[in-house]
Amino acid sequence: MAIEVVPLPLPPSADASKFKTFGREVKGVNPGALTPEQFKEIEKLLYEHSALLFRNAELTPEQQYALTKAFDPTSESYGHGNNKTGETKKSILHPDLKTIPRVPQVQLIGNGTVYNHEGLAEAKLKHPSHTTFHKTRVSAEDEANGITRFYRWHIDAALYDLSPPRVTTLYGINVPSGAHQVCRYDDGTGDELEVPLGTTAFVSGRTMFEILPRELKSLAVRAKVRYAPHPYVWMAPARAKSTGLGIETEGLEMPKEELPAWEEGKVKTFPILWKNPLNGELHFQVHPCGVSELLIDPLPAGADREGALYPDGAHITDLGQVRDLLYKMQRPAIAPSLIYPHDWHEKDLVLFHNRGVLHSVVGAFKPDQVRAFHQCNLAASDDPVGPSAEDVQKWAWLELDVVISGKEEWMDVDVDVFE
Ligand SMILES: [Fe+2]
Repeated sequence: MAIEVVPLPLPPSADASKFKTFGREVKGVNPGALTPEQFKEIEKLLYEHSALLFRNAELTPEQQYALTKAFDPTSESYGHGNNKTGETKKSILHPDLKTIPRVPQVQLIGNGTVYNHEGLAEAKLKHPSHTTFHKTRVSAEDEANGITRFYRWHIDAALYDLSPPRVTTLYGINVPSGAHQVCRYDDGTGDELEVPLGTTAFVSGRTMFEILPRELKSLAVRAKVRYAPHPYVWMAPARAKSTGLGIETEGLEMPKEELPAWEEGKVKTFPILWKNPLNGELHFQVHPCGVSELLIDPLPAGADREGALYPDGAHITDLGQVRDLLYKMQRPAIAPSLIYPHDWHEKDLVLFHNRGVLHSVVGAFKPDQVRAFHQCNLAASDDPVGPSAEDVQKWAWLELDVVISGKEEWMDVDVDVFE
């Protein structure tokens, strides 16, 4: 049977014109037992569409690990490392992760108590919710009426020492049913999004870049972010914005001298834009909570400086300034119309391009709503690749706007830039 792909069902809130290439359901193939040829096809589909759904998948932890590893055959350890030492117990991720004993790269995540599960006699799981992470929280009354928030927009990555996984696989085993919830942004915009209970929300990093105005594209293509050492420990005492897209600047981060031992050489600095290995497109891939500094290259020689941000480059270390700039660039892409909230069914397997999307846990469960998922991603064998010299040439310039507004005779100079 040939592999068949169909678009993912979009909710009424989504702007379909922004999801033309995003997300596909894959049919006619067993994701747990792909032939090498089938895998090649799936790999191409993933980089093209950013998220793939297989329904009614039968997948052991071993098969899930093998599938995840196929995208990066020399990768070995879980994306946050396999060994949970005492030091990382301070990390905000610690309570969310339970390892499958036979296959430590696969994590059991979810909610409620799970018994006799893949060698785990009893696992107490807690679906992370905004109530433990955001500076403000939805009132108990609103919560009872189904109001909720995005927990944390992120990339699955340690962001220290290890390289960001290429792919994450998420397999829904127990999926409690329940009423839809309303995810409220609470940022003064009035934005809200109706979501299935316990959805995973995805936004495209490609769209995040594409919808930026020209001056922010120019900034993004020239900029790198530097993450804090042990970023999840560093951010643990701090509190997040109400959209889950970064941290409020209140000076609560753990001082660097109190962090577990760290080495300069293991601190991660990544370009803001990551290049898609299949088609060269640029994805805006920043985990805003963990960033501590921004490094901006100057405009290329000869570029028009008028209207350009940081034309001479900059090294921004003021946390508030760093976060304001990132928020300005990332917030547009989490608009309700740009979100794909997956409506989980049991035996759904979702693969997502972790270097091409941002995602967030959403919503809240009651303790008796038992949810069990297997999640796998592997620290990659390489770091992501940033924009090429041609990309910088293409996007760092602002003068195209002048061309558009005033001098029509120049219009044919650079038409391909309008794509
Ligand atoms: Fe995640």
